[in-house]
Amino acid sequence: MAILVTGGAGFIGSHTCVELLNAGYEIIVVDNLINSKPEVIQKIKQITQRDFKFYQADLLNRSELEAIFESNTIDAVIHFAGLKAVGESVEIPLRYYHNNVSGTIILCETMAHYNVKRMVFSSSATIYGDPQSVPIKEDFPLSTTNPYGSTKLMIENILQDLYLSDKEWSISLLRYFNPIGAHKSGLIGEDPKGIPNNLMPYIVRVASGKLETLSIFGNDYPTIDGTGVRDYIHVVDLSLGHLDALKKIMLTKGINSYNLGTGKGYSVLEVIRAFEISTGQKVNSKITHRRPGDIAECYADPSKAKIELGWTASRDLYEMCLDAWKFAKQQ
Ligand code: NAD
Ligand code: UD1
Repeated sequence: MAILVTGGAGFIGSHTCVELLNAGYEIIVVDNLINSKPEVIQKIKQITQRDFKFYQADLLNRSELEAIFESNTIDAVIHFAGLKAVGESVEIPLRYYHNNVSGTIILCETMAHYNVKRMVFSSSATIYGDPQSVPIKEDFPLSTTNPYGSTKLMIENILQDLYLSDKEWSISLLRYFNPIGAHKSGLIGEDPKGIPNNLMPYIVRVASGKLETLSIFGNDYPTIDGTGVRDYIHVVDLSLGHLDALKKIMLTKGINSYNLGTGKGYSVLEVIRAFEISTGQKVNSKITHRRPGDIAECYADPSKAKIELGWTASRDLYEMCLDAWKFAKQQ
């Protein structure tokens, strides 16, 4: 049984490949390396001491994708491949819609052609927009504020329609909250190109002296200390959620969405403090204005994933900070 992992060289994909290999699955990875490095493939093999096929290919290239399905027996697809930078998606929306939405359509058409109808899809908590209350449940209203988020919501809708048209499909829509941390080995982790947009990658660059000061985007939100609250989840816990979702789609048909979060929110100041305590590193920071489009609070009610997938996150914020730092030190 082989699992095709699209975007398997990326941050979440690489960690999921490790967990799949550790659990004994055979995997095949396809990634065009637009936002990842070829060394990651070697690192996955080094961590797991397992071999697998890697194709440097673009989902938009139908013939390349078909060749992969033609020459392998694929049982299910875990679909991570996509562009994910919110700001960039506002600047070049067509590229985002084409890459994420068209890429997924080509993937689904190819899967249907080869009678592979099981998929785990990387969705995002961003499709809850500015939620009316927290914790967020899967049946909350959905809305988006930027092209990146819209691609995720469109893909969820496309997959819903696909299932309605053909009940042989089995699809899991995993709505991630804020993945951070890295593998314990320090060999794989999050290494964004250029200046990071997200909190933890920025913190580690300030701690390592590569950037001077972290800007805290606003301290006047209606939260515990005025700074934004998010549900940070260790990337290994998130990856393990994919294995549980995979088990479910192998056994049942249908389409279901699941929040993958810890259910606990932390403010920006709490994250900085946890990082400083766990790593012993100082993080220079200053309060600046709010980032446009940011919301005050966002955290999951993950009980559906617990009940239906048997999944819960177990790694705490200190472990997330320590593992992110261990990886960052090796870059
Ligand atoms: P990432 O950029 O590290 O990984 C995505 C991978 O997909 C990259 O290796 C990239 O090279 C590849 N890729 C992109 N377009 C491709 C294409 N057309 N063909 C082949 N490969 C392609 O991102 P990540 O953080 O690992 O995120 C994985 C998925 O999870 C994405 O779909 C992302 O939108 C989603 N997601 C991420 C977060 C987060 O905070 N990291 C949160 C919610 C959802
Ligand atoms: C980001 C994405 C969102 C995605 C989510 C999960 C943006 C605008 N949104 O949201 O689409 O679904 O990640 O990966 O990129 N912060 C600072 N200073 C910084 C960076 C962040 O104070 O330099 C604050 C933010 O205001 C926020 C918190 O830290 O309160 C987390 O920010 P970030 O890591 O960017 O994640 P999200 O805003 O949740």
